[in-house]
Amino acid sequence: MDHYFIIYSIYLELFIVYSVLYPAKAKSRRQRWEVKPSDMANNTLNPIRAIVDGMKLTPNPDKPMIALSIGDPTVFGNLPTDETVRQALKDAIDSEKYNGYAPSVGYLKSRQAVANFYSCPEAPLEAEDVILTSGCSQAIDLAISVLCNPGDNILVPCPGFSLYKTLAVSLGIEVKLYNLLPEKSWEADLQHMESLIDERTSCLIVTNPSNPCGSVFSKEHLQKILNVASRHCVPILADEIYTDLVRCTSPSMASLSSSVPILSCGGLAKRWLVPGWRMGWILIHDRNNIFGSEIRQGLVKLSQRILGACSVVQGALEGILNAPQSFYNNTISFLKSNSQICFNELSTVPGLTPIMPSGAMYLMVGIDMGHFPDFKNDVDFTEALVTEQSVFCLPASAFEFPNYFRIVVTVPEHLMVEACGRIREFCQRHYRPRSSDSSDSNDLDQ
Ligand SMILES: Cc1ncc(COP(=O)(O)O)c(C=O)c1O
Repeated sequence: MDHYFIIYSIYLELFIVYSVLYPAKAKSRRQRWEVKPSDMANNTLNPIRAIVDGMKLTPNPDKPMIALSIGDPTVFGNLPTDETVRQALKDAIDSEKYNGYAPSVGYLKSRQAVANFYSCPEAPLEAEDVILTSGCSQAIDLAISVLCNPGDNILVPCPGFSLYKTLAVSLGIEVKLYNLLPEKSWEADLQHMESLIDERTSCLIVTNPSNPCGSVFSKEHLQKILNVASRHCVPILADEIYTDLVRCTSPSMASLSSSVPILSCGGLAKRWLVPGWRMGWILIHDRNNIFGSEIRQGLVKLSQRILGACSVVQGALEGILNAPQSFYNNTISFLKSNSQICFNELSTVPGLTPIMPSGAMYLMVGIDMGHFPDFKNDVDFTEALVTEQSVFCLPASAFEFPNYFRIVVTVPEHLMVEACGRIREFCQRHYRPRSSDSSDSNDLDQ
Protein backbone atom coordinates (compact mmCIF):
# COMPACT_ATOMS: atom_id res chain seq x y z
CA MET A 1 0.00 0.00 0.00
CA ASP A 2 2.80 2.39 1.04
CA HIS A 3 4.69 1.52 -2.10
CA TYR A 4 1.75 2.45 -4.31
CA PHE A 5 1.21 5.61 -2.36
CA ILE A 6 4.84 6.73 -2.90
CA ILE A 7 4.62 6.10 -6.67
CA TYR A 8 1.32 7.95 -6.84
CA SER A 9 2.79 10.94 -4.95
CA ILE A 10 5.77 11.08 -7.30
CA TYR A 11 3.46 11.09 -10.33
CA LEU A 12 1.34 13.80 -8.78
CA GLU A 13 4.36 15.97 -8.05
CA LEU A 14 5.72 15.50 -11.56
CA PHE A 15 2.32 16.47 -12.98
CA ILE A 16 2.18 19.64 -10.88
CA VAL A 17 5.73 20.67 -11.84
CA TYR A 18 4.95 20.00 -15.53
CA SER A 19 1.72 22.00 -15.35
CA VAL A 20 3.50 24.97 -13.84
CA LEU A 21 6.34 24.83 -16.37
CA TYR A 22 4.16 24.18 -19.43
CA PRO A 23 0.72 25.53 -18.61
CA ALA A 24 -0.41 25.87 -22.23
CA LYS A 25 0.32 22.23 -23.02
CA ALA A 26 -1.33 20.98 -19.88
CA LYS A 27 -4.61 22.90 -20.50
CA SER A 28 -4.39 23.16 -24.30
CA ARG A 29 -4.33 26.94 -24.16
CA ARG A 30 -4.16 29.13 -27.31
CA GLN A 31 -0.69 29.14 -28.92
CA ARG A 32 -0.91 32.45 -30.74
CA TRP A 33 -2.83 35.70 -30.78
CA GLU A 34 -6.14 35.56 -32.60
CA VAL A 35 -8.36 38.45 -31.60
CA LYS A 36 -11.41 38.88 -33.81
CA PRO A 37 -14.47 41.11 -33.54
CA SER A 38 -17.47 39.33 -32.08
CA ASP A 39 -20.36 38.14 -34.23
CA MET A 40 -22.44 40.89 -32.68
CA ALA A 41 -19.93 43.54 -33.74
CA ASN A 42 -19.73 42.04 -37.22
CA ASN A 43 -23.51 42.00 -37.48
CA THR A 44 -23.88 45.62 -36.42
CA LEU A 45 -24.39 47.62 -39.58
CA ASN A 46 -25.71 51.13 -39.97
CA PRO A 47 -27.24 51.32 -43.47
CA ILE A 48 -26.82 55.11 -43.59
CA ARG A 49 -23.09 54.83 -42.88
CA ALA A 50 -22.78 51.93 -45.30
CA ILE A 51 -24.22 54.08 -48.11
CA VAL A 52 -22.79 57.49 -47.22
CA ASP A 53 -19.28 56.17 -46.55
CA GLY A 54 -19.31 54.58 -50.00
CA MET A 55 -20.23 57.87 -51.73
CA LYS A 56 -17.66 60.18 -53.28
CA LEU A 57 -18.65 63.45 -51.69
CA THR A 58 -16.48 66.12 -53.33
CA PRO A 59 -18.29 69.46 -53.24
CA ASN A 60 -17.95 72.04 -55.99
CA PRO A 61 -15.20 74.37 -54.69
CA ASP A 62 -17.07 77.39 -56.10
CA LYS A 63 -20.18 76.78 -54.02
CA PRO A 64 -20.31 76.53 -50.25
CA MET A 65 -21.65 73.21 -49.06
CA ILE A 66 -25.25 72.98 -47.86
CA ALA A 67 -25.91 69.73 -45.98
CA LEU A 68 -29.61 68.88 -46.01
CA SER A 69 -28.77 65.43 -44.75
CA ILE A 70 -28.29 65.60 -41.00
CA GLY A 71 -31.26 65.14 -38.69
CA ASP A 72 -29.66 67.29 -36.00
CA PRO A 73 -31.59 70.56 -35.56
CA THR A 74 -28.62 72.25 -33.89
CA VAL A 75 -26.10 72.14 -36.75
CA PHE A 76 -26.89 75.53 -38.29
CA GLY A 77 -27.39 77.37 -34.99
CA ASN A 78 -30.71 78.84 -36.15
CA LEU A 79 -32.83 76.73 -33.82
CA PRO A 80 -31.49 77.26 -30.31
CA THR A 81 -33.32 75.63 -27.45
CA ASP A 82 -35.38 77.81 -25.13
CA GLU A 83 -33.84 79.92 -22.40
CA THR A 84 -35.90 78.05 -19.78
CA VAL A 85 -34.42 74.77 -20.98
CA ARG A 86 -30.87 76.09 -20.69
CA GLN A 87 -31.61 77.62 -17.29
CA ALA A 88 -33.05 74.35 -15.98
CA LEU A 89 -29.79 72.59 -16.82
CA LYS A 90 -27.68 75.35 -15.27
CA ASP A 91 -29.76 75.16 -12.09
CA ALA A 92 -29.37 71.39 -11.96
CA ILE A 93 -25.59 71.73 -12.25
CA ASP A 94 -25.40 74.52 -9.65
CA SER A 95 -27.50 72.54 -7.17
CA GLU A 96 -24.67 69.96 -6.94
CA LYS A 97 -27.41 67.39 -6.34
CA TYR A 98 -26.97 65.48 -9.57
CA ASN A 99 -23.30 64.59 -9.73
CA GLY A 100 -23.76 61.01 -8.63
CA TYR A 101 -25.22 57.82 -10.09
CA ALA A 102 -28.97 57.85 -10.54
CA PRO A 103 -31.06 54.67 -10.24
CA SER A 104 -30.78 52.66 -13.46
CA VAL A 105 -34.34 53.55 -14.52
CA GLY A 106 -33.92 57.20 -13.48
CA TYR A 107 -34.76 59.35 -10.45
CA LEU A 108 -38.34 58.86 -9.32
CA LYS A 109 -38.89 62.64 -9.40
CA SER A 110 -37.74 62.85 -13.02
CA ARG A 111 -39.82 59.84 -14.05
CA GLN A 112 -42.78 61.50 -12.36
CA ALA A 113 -42.15 64.68 -14.35
CA VAL A 114 -42.29 62.73 -17.63
CA ALA A 115 -45.38 60.81 -16.46
CA ASN A 116 -47.13 64.08 -15.60
CA PHE A 117 -46.18 65.58 -18.93
CA TYR A 118 -47.57 62.72 -21.04
CA SER A 119 -50.37 61.41 -18.85
CA CYS A 120 -53.87 61.91 -20.26
CA PRO A 121 -57.23 60.48 -19.23
CA GLU A 122 -57.19 57.98 -22.14
CA ALA A 123 -53.66 56.80 -21.33
CA PRO A 124 -52.77 57.58 -17.72
CA LEU A 125 -49.16 57.22 -16.59
CA GLU A 126 -47.47 56.89 -13.20
CA ALA A 127 -43.79 57.36 -12.44
CA GLU A 128 -43.32 53.55 -12.47
CA ASP A 129 -44.48 53.50 -16.09
CA VAL A 130 -41.49 55.61 -17.15
CA ILE A 131 -37.95 54.42 -17.75
CA LEU A 132 -35.37 57.09 -18.48
CA THR A 133 -32.75 56.25 -21.07
CA SER A 134 -29.79 57.66 -22.93
CA GLY A 135 -31.73 59.22 -25.78
CA CYS A 136 -34.58 57.65 -27.65
CA SER A 137 -32.03 55.29 -29.22
CA GLN A 138 -31.46 53.47 -25.93
CA ALA A 139 -35.21 53.40 -25.34
CA ILE A 140 -35.62 51.59 -28.68
CA ASP A 141 -32.74 49.27 -27.82
CA LEU A 142 -34.28 48.31 -24.47
CA ALA A 143 -37.75 47.91 -25.98
CA ILE A 144 -36.57 45.60 -28.77
CA SER A 145 -34.32 43.69 -26.39
CA VAL A 146 -37.06 43.06 -23.85
CA LEU A 147 -39.64 41.92 -26.39
CA CYS A 148 -37.60 39.81 -28.79
CA ASN A 149 -35.45 36.70 -28.75
CA PRO A 150 -32.97 35.70 -31.45
CA GLY A 151 -34.97 34.10 -34.26
CA ASP A 152 -38.04 36.28 -33.62
CA ASN A 153 -39.01 38.89 -36.13
CA ILE A 154 -40.14 42.50 -35.90
CA LEU A 155 -42.16 44.57 -38.36
CA VAL A 156 -40.48 47.81 -39.39
CA PRO A 157 -41.77 50.59 -41.66
CA CYS A 158 -40.21 51.04 -45.09
CA PRO A 159 -38.95 53.67 -45.58
CA GLY A 160 -38.01 53.89 -41.95
CA PHE A 161 -35.45 54.96 -39.41
CA SER A 162 -32.45 52.68 -39.86
CA LEU A 163 -31.63 52.14 -36.18
CA TYR A 164 -34.34 49.50 -35.76
CA LYS A 165 -32.61 47.22 -38.23
CA THR A 166 -29.14 47.99 -36.92
CA LEU A 167 -30.16 46.93 -33.41
CA ALA A 168 -32.34 43.99 -34.37
CA VAL A 169 -29.91 42.32 -36.75
CA SER A 170 -27.08 42.55 -34.22
CA LEU A 171 -29.35 40.72 -31.76
CA GLY A 172 -30.18 37.96 -34.25
CA ILE A 173 -33.71 39.27 -34.77
CA GLU A 174 -35.18 39.16 -38.27
CA VAL A 175 -36.50 42.42 -39.72
CA LYS A 176 -39.59 42.35 -41.92
CA LEU A 177 -40.31 45.60 -43.74
CA TYR A 178 -43.89 46.74 -44.26
CA ASN A 179 -44.47 49.29 -46.98
CA LEU A 180 -45.47 52.89 -46.49
CA LEU A 181 -47.35 54.25 -49.48
CA PRO A 182 -46.11 57.57 -50.90
CA GLU A 183 -49.29 58.02 -52.92
CA LYS A 184 -51.30 57.84 -49.68
CA SER A 185 -49.20 60.38 -47.77
CA TRP A 186 -47.07 57.52 -46.51
CA GLU A 187 -49.82 55.58 -44.77
CA ALA A 188 -48.89 52.00 -43.96
CA ASP A 189 -49.96 49.28 -46.36
CA LEU A 190 -52.05 47.44 -43.78
CA GLN A 191 -52.58 44.34 -45.87
CA HIS A 192 -48.88 44.02 -46.44
CA MET A 193 -48.21 44.63 -42.75
CA GLU A 194 -50.68 41.94 -41.71
CA SER A 195 -49.39 39.43 -44.27
CA LEU A 196 -45.93 39.57 -42.68
CA ILE A 197 -47.05 38.57 -39.20
CA ASP A 198 -46.33 35.03 -38.07
CA GLU A 199 -45.96 33.21 -34.77
CA ARG A 200 -42.41 34.59 -34.32
CA THR A 201 -43.47 38.24 -34.71
CA SER A 202 -42.74 39.79 -31.36
CA CYS A 203 -43.16 43.48 -32.03
CA LEU A 204 -44.64 45.94 -34.51
CA ILE A 205 -42.73 49.21 -34.82
CA VAL A 206 -44.71 52.30 -35.73
CA THR A 207 -42.90 55.60 -36.27
CA ASN A 208 -45.30 58.49 -36.01
CA PRO A 209 -44.52 61.21 -37.07
CA SER A 210 -42.12 59.59 -39.48
CA ASN A 211 -38.44 59.89 -40.13
CA PRO A 212 -37.73 59.98 -43.10
CA CYS A 213 -41.17 60.86 -44.52
CA GLY A 214 -42.31 63.71 -42.28
CA SER A 215 -45.75 62.14 -42.45
CA VAL A 216 -48.28 62.03 -39.62
CA PHE A 217 -50.88 59.29 -39.33
CA SER A 218 -54.51 60.19 -38.78
CA LYS A 219 -56.38 58.89 -35.77
CA GLU A 220 -58.32 56.54 -38.05
CA HIS A 221 -55.17 55.10 -39.58
CA LEU A 222 -53.57 54.59 -36.17
CA GLN A 223 -56.71 52.78 -35.08
CA LYS A 224 -56.44 50.45 -38.07
CA ILE A 225 -52.82 49.66 -37.18
CA LEU A 226 -53.90 48.97 -33.60
CA ASN A 227 -56.58 46.61 -34.93
CA VAL A 228 -53.93 44.64 -36.82
CA ALA A 229 -51.81 44.41 -33.67
CA SER A 230 -54.84 43.41 -31.60
CA ARG A 231 -56.00 40.70 -34.05
CA HIS A 232 -52.58 39.06 -33.93
CA CYS A 233 -51.69 39.84 -30.30
CA VAL A 234 -48.49 41.66 -31.27
CA PRO A 235 -47.26 44.43 -28.93
CA ILE A 236 -46.36 47.80 -30.41
CA LEU A 237 -43.15 49.77 -30.13
CA ALA A 238 -44.33 53.30 -30.91
CA ASP A 239 -41.41 55.54 -31.81
CA GLU A 240 -42.94 58.89 -30.90
CA ILE A 241 -39.80 61.01 -30.72
CA TYR A 242 -41.41 63.56 -33.08
CA THR A 243 -44.68 63.63 -31.18
CA ASP A 244 -46.19 67.13 -31.09
CA LEU A 245 -43.78 68.34 -33.77
CA VAL A 246 -46.78 68.36 -36.07
CA ARG A 247 -48.95 70.72 -38.05
CA CYS A 248 -52.12 68.72 -37.43
CA THR A 249 -53.60 66.76 -34.56
CA SER A 250 -52.07 63.38 -34.02
CA PRO A 251 -52.93 61.37 -30.94
CA SER A 252 -50.43 59.06 -29.31
CA MET A 253 -51.02 55.39 -30.08
CA ALA A 254 -51.58 54.60 -26.42
CA SER A 255 -54.46 57.07 -26.17
CA LEU A 256 -56.35 55.07 -28.81
CA SER A 257 -56.22 51.59 -27.34
CA SER A 258 -56.52 50.15 -23.90
CA SER A 259 -56.06 46.58 -25.07
CA VAL A 260 -52.83 46.65 -27.12
CA PRO A 261 -49.74 46.88 -24.92
CA ILE A 262 -47.46 49.66 -26.12
CA LEU A 263 -43.92 50.75 -25.35
CA SER A 264 -43.78 54.37 -26.45
CA CYS A 265 -40.23 55.67 -27.02
CA GLY A 266 -39.44 59.37 -26.95
CA GLY A 267 -36.96 61.93 -25.74
CA LEU A 268 -35.72 65.49 -25.65
CA ALA A 269 -33.73 65.43 -28.91
CA LYS A 270 -36.19 66.90 -31.35
CA ARG A 271 -38.96 68.80 -29.63
CA TRP A 272 -36.59 70.43 -27.15
CA LEU A 273 -33.82 70.74 -29.77
CA VAL A 274 -31.08 69.22 -27.59
CA PRO A 275 -30.12 65.86 -29.14
CA GLY A 276 -26.70 66.03 -27.52
CA TRP A 277 -28.18 65.95 -24.02
CA ARG A 278 -29.00 62.29 -24.60
CA MET A 279 -32.23 62.05 -22.69
CA GLY A 280 -34.95 59.63 -23.72
CA TRP A 281 -37.64 57.49 -22.18
CA ILE A 282 -39.91 54.52 -22.51
CA LEU A 283 -43.54 55.00 -21.50
CA ILE A 284 -45.08 51.65 -20.58
CA HIS A 285 -48.75 51.54 -21.54
CA ASP A 286 -50.29 48.31 -20.37
CA ARG A 287 -53.78 48.90 -19.08
CA ASN A 288 -54.78 45.27 -19.65
CA ASN A 289 -51.77 43.99 -17.78
CA ILE A 290 -50.43 42.01 -20.73
CA PHE A 291 -46.81 43.03 -20.28
CA GLY A 292 -47.39 42.45 -16.57
CA SER A 293 -44.55 42.55 -14.13
CA GLU A 294 -42.29 40.34 -16.27
CA ILE A 295 -41.75 42.85 -19.07
CA ARG A 296 -41.37 45.66 -16.54
CA GLN A 297 -38.77 43.67 -14.63
CA GLY A 298 -37.10 42.77 -17.89
CA LEU A 299 -36.77 46.44 -18.72
CA VAL A 300 -35.38 47.17 -15.27
CA LYS A 301 -32.82 44.38 -15.66
CA LEU A 302 -31.77 45.60 -19.09
CA SER A 303 -31.46 49.16 -17.78
CA GLN A 304 -28.96 47.82 -15.23
CA ARG A 305 -26.49 46.79 -17.93
CA ILE A 306 -25.34 50.39 -18.40
CA LEU A 307 -26.68 53.44 -16.58
CA GLY A 308 -28.55 55.37 -19.25
CA ALA A 309 -29.75 58.90 -18.76
CA CYS A 310 -27.33 61.58 -17.56
CA SER A 311 -28.04 62.51 -13.92
CA VAL A 312 -27.78 66.28 -14.42
CA VAL A 313 -30.24 66.28 -17.32
CA GLN A 314 -32.56 64.14 -15.19
CA GLY A 315 -32.27 66.79 -12.48
CA ALA A 316 -33.29 69.44 -15.01
CA LEU A 317 -36.06 67.42 -16.60
CA GLU A 318 -39.04 68.95 -14.85
CA GLY A 319 -37.89 72.46 -15.78
CA ILE A 320 -37.12 71.43 -19.34
CA LEU A 321 -40.53 69.89 -19.91
CA ASN A 322 -42.16 73.07 -18.66
CA ALA A 323 -40.72 75.21 -21.45
CA PRO A 324 -43.28 77.76 -22.64
CA GLN A 325 -45.75 76.78 -25.34
CA SER A 326 -44.47 79.67 -27.49
CA PHE A 327 -41.11 77.84 -27.81
CA TYR A 328 -42.79 74.73 -29.26
CA ASN A 329 -45.06 76.84 -31.46
CA ASN A 330 -42.13 78.76 -32.91
CA THR A 331 -40.30 75.57 -33.85
CA ILE A 332 -43.41 74.12 -35.46
CA SER A 333 -44.15 77.24 -37.48
CA PHE A 334 -40.52 77.46 -38.64
CA LEU A 335 -40.60 73.83 -39.80
CA LYS A 336 -43.94 74.37 -41.50
CA SER A 337 -42.75 77.45 -43.35
CA ASN A 338 -39.48 75.83 -44.46
CA SER A 339 -41.30 72.67 -45.58
CA GLN A 340 -43.70 74.78 -47.61
CA ILE A 341 -40.85 76.72 -49.24
CA CYS A 342 -39.04 73.50 -50.10
CA PHE A 343 -42.19 71.77 -51.36
CA ASN A 344 -43.25 74.76 -53.51
CA GLU A 345 -39.79 75.15 -55.01
CA LEU A 346 -39.29 71.48 -55.83
CA SER A 347 -42.85 70.87 -57.07
CA THR A 348 -42.01 72.70 -60.28
CA VAL A 349 -38.63 71.03 -60.83
CA PRO A 350 -38.76 68.63 -63.77
CA GLY A 351 -38.40 64.99 -62.75
CA LEU A 352 -38.93 65.53 -59.02
CA THR A 353 -41.98 64.75 -56.89
CA PRO A 354 -41.74 66.20 -53.39
CA ILE A 355 -44.26 64.92 -50.87
CA MET A 356 -45.51 67.59 -48.49
CA PRO A 357 -44.83 66.59 -44.88
CA SER A 358 -47.07 67.40 -41.94
CA GLY A 359 -44.67 66.73 -39.10
CA ALA A 360 -41.16 65.94 -37.90
CA MET A 361 -38.36 67.71 -39.79
CA TYR A 362 -38.07 65.89 -43.08
CA LEU A 363 -39.41 65.93 -46.60
CA MET A 364 -39.08 63.11 -49.10
CA VAL A 365 -38.60 63.80 -52.79
CA GLY A 366 -39.24 61.23 -55.50
CA ILE A 367 -36.82 61.11 -58.43
CA ASP A 368 -38.28 59.99 -61.74
CA MET A 369 -35.09 58.13 -62.65
CA GLY A 370 -36.32 57.53 -66.20
CA HIS A 371 -35.78 61.23 -66.85
CA PHE A 372 -32.25 61.19 -65.49
CA PRO A 373 -30.38 58.64 -67.60
CA ASP A 374 -27.05 60.12 -66.45
CA PHE A 375 -27.54 58.38 -63.12
CA LYS A 376 -27.96 54.75 -62.14
CA ASN A 377 -29.92 55.39 -58.97
CA ASP A 378 -30.65 57.80 -56.11
CA VAL A 379 -27.16 57.32 -54.66
CA ASP A 380 -25.56 58.30 -57.96
CA PHE A 381 -27.98 61.22 -58.32
CA THR A 382 -27.30 62.67 -54.86
CA GLU A 383 -23.55 62.12 -55.23
CA ALA A 384 -23.52 64.17 -58.44
CA LEU A 385 -25.64 66.83 -56.72
CA VAL A 386 -22.79 67.28 -54.25
CA THR A 387 -20.13 67.31 -56.95
CA GLU A 388 -21.91 69.92 -59.08
CA GLN A 389 -23.96 71.98 -56.62
CA SER A 390 -22.50 71.27 -53.17
CA VAL A 391 -25.93 70.24 -51.88
CA PHE A 392 -26.08 67.01 -49.93
CA CYS A 393 -29.38 65.17 -49.53
CA LEU A 394 -29.55 61.66 -48.14
CA PRO A 395 -30.40 59.08 -50.81
CA ALA A 396 -33.42 57.14 -49.59
CA SER A 397 -31.68 53.86 -50.39
CA ALA A 398 -30.32 54.44 -46.89
CA PHE A 399 -33.91 53.84 -45.76
CA GLU A 400 -34.31 50.89 -48.16
CA PHE A 401 -36.49 53.05 -50.42
CA PRO A 402 -34.64 53.77 -53.67
CA ASN A 403 -35.50 56.54 -56.14
CA TYR A 404 -36.13 59.11 -53.44
CA PHE A 405 -34.02 61.44 -51.36
CA ARG A 406 -34.64 62.98 -47.96
CA ILE A 407 -34.30 66.66 -47.15
CA VAL A 408 -33.92 67.94 -43.58
CA VAL A 409 -35.92 71.15 -43.27
CA THR A 410 -34.19 72.64 -40.22
CA VAL A 411 -31.71 74.72 -42.24
CA PRO A 412 -32.06 78.52 -42.18
CA GLU A 413 -34.61 79.79 -44.70
CA HIS A 414 -32.11 81.50 -47.02
CA LEU A 415 -30.11 78.27 -47.28
CA MET A 416 -33.26 76.29 -48.01
CA VAL A 417 -34.09 78.69 -50.85
CA GLU A 418 -30.51 78.57 -52.14
CA ALA A 419 -30.38 74.77 -51.94
CA CYS A 420 -33.68 74.37 -53.80
CA GLY A 421 -32.43 76.73 -56.51
CA ARG A 422 -29.31 74.63 -56.94
CA ILE A 423 -31.33 71.40 -57.04
CA ARG A 424 -33.45 72.97 -59.80
CA GLU A 425 -30.35 73.94 -61.80
CA PHE A 426 -28.97 70.42 -61.40
CA CYS A 427 -32.20 68.76 -62.52
CA GLN A 428 -32.67 71.10 -65.47
CA ARG A 429 -29.17 70.23 -66.62
CA HIS A 430 -29.67 66.46 -66.43
CA TYR A 431 -33.37 66.08 -67.21
CA ARG A 432 -34.12 64.25 -70.48
CA PRO A 433 -37.61 63.78 -71.87
CA ARG A 434 -38.33 60.14 -72.47
CA SER A 435 -38.85 58.93 -76.04
CA SER A 436 -42.44 57.78 -75.38
CA ASP A 437 -43.69 59.53 -72.29
CA SER A 438 -47.23 58.23 -72.72
CA SER A 439 -46.23 54.57 -72.40
CA ASP A 440 -44.07 55.18 -69.35
CA SER A 441 -44.30 53.02 -66.34
CA ASN A 442 -44.13 54.91 -63.07
CA ASP A 443 -40.55 54.78 -61.86
CA LEU A 444 -41.66 55.84 -58.42
CA ASP A 445 -43.74 52.73 -57.87
CA GLN A 446 -42.14 50.65 -55.19
C1 LIG B 1 -37.46 58.19 -35.61
C2 LIG B 1 -36.30 58.38 -34.67
N1 LIG B 1 -36.25 57.67 -33.54
C3 LIG B 1 -35.24 57.79 -32.67
C4 LIG B 1 -34.20 58.67 -32.89
C5 LIG B 1 -33.05 58.74 -31.91
O1 LIG B 1 -33.22 59.77 -31.01
P1 LIG B 1 -32.08 60.11 -29.93
O2 LIG B 1 -31.16 61.09 -30.56
O3 LIG B 1 -32.83 60.68 -28.77
O4 LIG B 1 -31.39 58.84 -29.57
C6 LIG B 1 -34.22 59.46 -34.06
C7 LIG B 1 -33.11 60.36 -34.34
O5 LIG B 1 -32.97 60.94 -35.38
C8 LIG B 1 -35.29 59.30 -34.97
O6 LIG B 1 -35.34 60.01 -36.10
